[in-house]
Amino acid sequence: MCRGQDDGFDLFFVSSTSEVDDYPIQFTDPLPKWLRGTLIRNGLGRFEIGKRNFTHTFDGFAKLHSWKFVGNGSASFSAKFLYSDFYRDSVSRNDIAPYLLFQTVTPAFNEFQKLESLVRGIDNMNVNVYQFKNESTSEYFVFSDYWKMYEINGINLATKRSVTPPVPAPSIGTKWHPAAPPMGGGFGFLSFLSSAHPLPEYGTSNFLTFLSSISLVPGIKNRMSLIRIISGEKREAIASWEVDRVAYMHSFSATQNYAALFAMPFYVNVEKMVLTAEPFDSLDWYDNANTTIYLVHLKTGHVTKHTTENLFTMHHITSTPSKQTPLRSSSICPHLELKILRDPVRRNQFPAHALLKRFYIDLVTGNVDVTLFNASPVYPYANMLDMPAINEKYRYKDYRHIYGLVLKTNDVNLDQIALVKKDLYNSSNDKAWSEGHCYPVEAWFVPRPGGQKEDDGLLLVPVLDGIHRKSYLAIINATTMATVNTADLPFVIPYGLHGRFFADLF
Ligand SMILES: [Fe+2]
Repeated sequence: MCRGQDDGFDLFFVSSTSEVDDYPIQFTDPLPKWLRGTLIRNGLGRFEIGKRNFTHTFDGFAKLHSWKFVGNGSASFSAKFLYSDFYRDSVSRNDIAPYLLFQTVTPAFNEFQKLESLVRGIDNMNVNVYQFKNESTSEYFVFSDYWKMYEINGINLATKRSVTPPVPAPSIGTKWHPAAPPMGGGFGFLSFLSSAHPLPEYGTSNFLTFLSSISLVPGIKNRMSLIRIISGEKREAIASWEVDRVAYMHSFSATQNYAALFAMPFYVNVEKMVLTAEPFDSLDWYDNANTTIYLVHLKTGHVTKHTTENLFTMHHITSTPSKQTPLRSSSICPHLELKILRDPVRRNQFPAHALLKRFYIDLVTGNVDVTLFNASPVYPYANMLDMPAINEKYRYKDYRHIYGLVLKTNDVNLDQIALVKKDLYNSSNDKAWSEGHCYPVEAWFVPRPGGQKEDDGLLLVPVLDGIHRKSYLAIINATTMATVNTADLPFVIPYGLHGRFFADLF
């Protein structure tokens, strides 16, 4: 029975403490034999412990979910919390332990607990999952927007260890303050803000990320660094440069030769951070300030600075060798407090739409051109996507298709959420998948082996069915955007953020 316009949406923000190992799941139709590997997704699992509650969605305790396809037509599902120090400490106290959070808890920590949380720092890695692989190692790590990570067992989702990689010394092309101590040498800098979205470095098994180092020493400037991830613990600095203020960044872009970091006018206020121990309240937004783009050459470490419009972006999508950088722009963070998302009136009132934009940086003039995409006549909301996915085989090619979520496609309520397929070449080819009262999260594109077209593959999409109050995994034909298979899950999955499909893990 439908009880409201976005019936069941609140289940995304209800704790689910159930855990399972390789629970067999039954699909409605036979699975293709070529579908082999494991989709692991990271996200939120629990919003309170004992009498204390989180107030912001981003603080939900990390919980991992996986779907394993062994290639013989069968599949299984696993769910497990990330047993971080923070989670284990909280469970043992039957209270949310004092660690640094995005926003306050209720009841609030006392002053001593706030100090404890500043000392312990961030420990809840609930955003993404990656595999770092080279000739000798294959390791799985879970991430948030921080330098620290947790290693997990990709097969059974068990938590293995926390890893805080040594911060590398500066390398080629680095503009370095002669009086500064070595970066991350401990004294004088807080080096903990990084990206939940490392990018594969073209032609290598490495990944790229950034690191923000906040100076605590008067007269010494803050620094930004572009970092090469060689393995979980081995990093090297491609370039480091001084900045007046440290901007919050969640993701960035890379081409074959460049990385582009968009420093939005959303700056860390260190004094506020120390006083309040609440990072969310310690970010200052400037309505009329421009965004600075740092373009870093991956081989030389040379950094150039460019200016573009005032924008807030969570997700860069991908870039091509021809210097293009499409990304989304919106300012959704302040609206993701749990009290808003659990309120059927308030959650339908905030502006939920992103906007797809392309930033073209002219390497000769340094100018930045911003372009929008044509609206689809059939799916006019298609350009408002977020949580983007692509065929990763096209990451550094002239890609055409983006799969992403659009909330409130009717601009009225969250009952209408679409998974759109954006055609960057021809908006009249845009497509969309949606089911009333069914709420998809981020999709992952699995290419069909031997497929010659960019969109020849399947989308794996966890969906919350608000009417039947259950979660299921949808397998969607990426060419047609039609559902081809579904499997119910044994319990509802709270909101999931990001994940990846690992073809060699099953
Ligand atoms: Fe993200």
